[in-house]
Amino acid sequence: MHQQFQTLNSLLLAHQNFWRIEPFLHSEQSDFPWQKSHPELCLWLSSLSTQQIEHYKDHPEQLSDIVGQYLPDVLTLAQLCFLERSSLSGLELERGVDSGVPGRKLEQILAMGEIALQKHEGTEWLEWCSGKGFLGRILASQSKQNVTSFEFQQALCETGQQEADKHQLPMKFVQGDALADSSIKALNSAQHAVALHACGDLHVSLMKKGAACRVPAMTIAPCCYHLVQSDAYQPLSQAGKASHLHLSKSELRIPLQETVTGGQRVKRHRFEEMSFRLGFDLLLKGECGVEDYIPVPSIKKSQLSSGFTAFCLWAAEQKQIDLPTLDFDNYLQRGIKRYWQMERLSLVQQVFRRALELWLVLDKALYLHEQGYDVSLGEFCSRGVTPRNILIHASMRKAT
Ligand SMILES: C[S@@+](CC[C@H](N)C(=O)[O-])C[C@H]1O[C@@H](n2cnc3c(N)ncnc32)[C@H](O)[C@@H]1O
Repeated sequence: MHQQFQTLNSLLLAHQNFWRIEPFLHSEQSDFPWQKSHPELCLWLSSLSTQQIEHYKDHPEQLSDIVGQYLPDVLTLAQLCFLERSSLSGLELERGVDSGVPGRKLEQILAMGEIALQKHEGTEWLEWCSGKGFLGRILASQSKQNVTSFEFQQALCETGQQEADKHQLPMKFVQGDALADSSIKALNSAQHAVALHACGDLHVSLMKKGAACRVPAMTIAPCCYHLVQSDAYQPLSQAGKASHLHLSKSELRIPLQETVTGGQRVKRHRFEEMSFRLGFDLLLKGECGVEDYIPVPSIKKSQLSSGFTAFCLWAAEQKQIDLPTLDFDNYLQRGIKRYWQMERLSLVQQVFRRALELWLVLDKALYLHEQGYDVSLGEFCSRGVTPRNILIHASMRKAT
């Protein structure tokens, strides 16, 4: 893992001008930032039809192969990012234990639950940032061992507790703040700690507190790497701390910029919203003397159906800008053109996203190793079920 981290680290550093970009902002320019250094890559990008762009977005392996023809290191990165998918036989559930769990979430908790059960150590469970405790329910019903579900939102604790009591599961919800020092009281050395999609600092706090309490095992599916209190990523491992790869908070969003779980409707809404926003930016610059990008608040998707002109009038009102009489359709067409330029830029950034995510995950894995754990990484489900499908499993190293 150390070697894997170092190779990823140097490849990411060597290619940072391909992924440290903001496609939204850069799309205003018609040329690519790599025009001089990689003219053939840029020629290929320019030649893509909108259908081809959509296709490559949805087929990351094909995208890596073709970008790899222009940037050969991308092929090495793709190999380094391969993670084994755990083989699962499926759990037999007690009646009703999955009630109220939405479809995709059910697939995630069944997969993660089965792996945690296979690798179980300790005599009880801790479910960190549990929400309503969907995963905890599976663990409690299958193992018959106590589960402590730790969650910030009181309402989720109450609903989760009611549901657990209804099924007579040995679960106890504890309301608290995972980031507060006092949350360590929820941990003890008999627990196997699990965290499904605990964001940024939340999964880090579990790793630190879990190691301090010597929990026998931790099984963690991280997500939302950018949800951290600091302005930049704070590496945990020695290798991470020694690295020259520094990631700002906004760069920590790069691994999450994927729309694989979105269907056609989600895609259409994104196309409309982004081309409206890009077109409005051009309009402000072309008609109102605005020089820098002005962020517009988020909108309800239903508002998009009123069209571009309505969007611009609403956005101008939000920003207290008076719009002159103008040709809205011209700006909409330019916004659409800019949207596809943004997508071309994103295709290049996309081939580095998983590598960045793995760099972050490996930093955490190496940290747990330094804390005395044997650590393995794998995928617990397909990326179609959730793009945040990496699982870190750590078992306390046995004295030999
Ligand atoms: C993405 S959800 C995941 C919930 C659950 N593990 C699941 O996968 O269904 C993150 C959870 O963390 C909880 N949370 C956020 N901040 C927290 C904090 N400071 N302490 C404890 N829980 C927190 C949220 O309320 C939410 O339930």
